[in-house]
Amino acid sequence: MQTLNFVKLGSLRNIDAFRKLAADLKLNLPCDEKILKAPDSPLAQPIEVQGRKVGNRWAVHPMEGWDATLDGRPTPPLTRRWENFGRSGAKLIWGGEAMAVQAAGRANPHQLQIDAAHLDDLAGLRQKLIDAHRLHHGRTDDLLVGFQLTHSGRFARPKGEPCPRVAYRHPLLDQRVGVTSDKAILSDGEVEELIGCYIQAAGVAADAGADFVDIKHCHGYLLHEFLGAHTRPGPYGGSFENRTRLLREIAKGIRSSRPHLLIGVRFSAFDTVPFYPDPTQSSGKKLGPGIPENYSACLPYRYGFAIDEAHPVNHDLSEAIRFMDLLKSLDIRLVNISGGSPYYSPHLERPAAYPPSDGYGPPEDPLIGVARHIAVTAELKRHCPEMIVAGSGYSYLQEFLPHVAQSVVRQGGADFVGIGRMVLPYPEFPSDVLEKGTIVPRRLCRTLSDCTTAPRKGLISGCFPLDDYYKALPEAEQLKKMKGGR
Ligand SMILES: Cc1cc2nc3c(=O)[nH]c(=O)nc-3n(C[C@H](O)[C@H](O)[C@H](O)COP(=O)(O)O)c2cc1C
Repeated sequence: MQTLNFVKLGSLRNIDAFRKLAADLKLNLPCDEKILKAPDSPLAQPIEVQGRKVGNRWAVHPMEGWDATLDGRPTPPLTRRWENFGRSGAKLIWGGEAMAVQAAGRANPHQLQIDAAHLDDLAGLRQKLIDAHRLHHGRTDDLLVGFQLTHSGRFARPKGEPCPRVAYRHPLLDQRVGVTSDKAILSDGEVEELIGCYIQAAGVAADAGADFVDIKHCHGYLLHEFLGAHTRPGPYGGSFENRTRLLREIAKGIRSSRPHLLIGVRFSAFDTVPFYPDPTQSSGKKLGPGIPENYSACLPYRYGFAIDEAHPVNHDLSEAIRFMDLLKSLDIRLVNISGGSPYYSPHLERPAAYPPSDGYGPPEDPLIGVARHIAVTAELKRHCPEMIVAGSGYSYLQEFLPHVAQSVVRQGGADFVGIGRMVLPYPEFPSDVLEKGTIVPRRLCRTLSDCTTAPRKGLISGCFPLDDYYKALPEAEQLKKMKGGR
């Protein structure tokens, strides 16, 4: 695969070199000189979230591993991942991982499922996380744990093969997932049934001990797609009010059945048209840099959320801002800001210098991608200061992550810094920062893509390069061979 010509962050000697790189790229990245330990660090400050005290400003993002049983229950590697999340020291566990509210909505045959039949498994899984947190960090009364509820929509593969269910026909994405007729569109009746599944799943989450549920609206999955259903007729498409009806009905149902359960929303606040590897620069396993699909026949572009209709490679934050206002009016205060989709715009969602196997070479320096996440999140937080906002996309920062995270929180650009990929090889990252004021460079994830490549090749996810648990699995060798020895 392609090795890119960007300055590798691991090659930078110090914070000044990092700042210079950011300045050369014309990025206004917040960045503190020194990492502060608790209790002085901004990242160590407790915060109140709708009546609950949360002990620090680190969040662990939801990270699924394609490793549940075929009937959607936890397995040993999955449980270990949750224990690692608990061990991390982060006081906000945003969702654990995506859990399908309907079997048909699973993204793969090994995704967790959440319904009454899975209650005991999920309660046990949460308890393992809590126990690990207590063992390593003493107290759990300031830990907030959510469950992420999802339907994979266009990217559903409940039995392995694509089985897309969509909000509307998409001129560029339909072909990618094999949508060839309107039969894939969920009917209004099916949408109503689905609302019931979300409400029931939230009840299961509450019974399993979750503090909140995330009604997931990101990464191209079904509820994100509904936010962009401009072209869908009927009550769930067209106007902003209709495109957000699903959320409002789910929230209303949860509030009436589980008034004490907090509700959060993770949403893709910026997006673009689908990208693909430039064929003129791809050969064999080498992926060319990402370029946008030809969208000239699709203007004005009405096939997504928070996309500039006239120049759809760019985002337009006006609807994301409106969505924040809506969340506030629904008393949904917990938001987690992400962008794009791992399927059609991974450079937006997961900045990385090395592409996953189904991706493309970065069309921009990945640091630009990180800065975009930070800027969008800060703008939304500025617009709605009452909201409790977690930011995403930080793992690419590697050794400079604590410097940037600390500065973002100090400046009020986010309330929580969420980390995803970095937690897989290095779960103690947040606690090392807070307790030691330093991190261990050899434990840092540098490629940031094997955890995506493995499942794209039908394997479980995990950190195959750095985590001894995964290094020892036969899948590590398989993955190496599949990647052609890289
Ligand atoms: C292997 C893997 C699994 C993921 N699973 C989920 C998921 O279940 N739900 C979700 O909202 N995001 C998921 N994500 C996205 C992450 O939560 C996060 O947004 C992304 O990795 C960017 O943050 P980072 O730079 O800290 O890794 C996943 C990402 C990876 C690499």
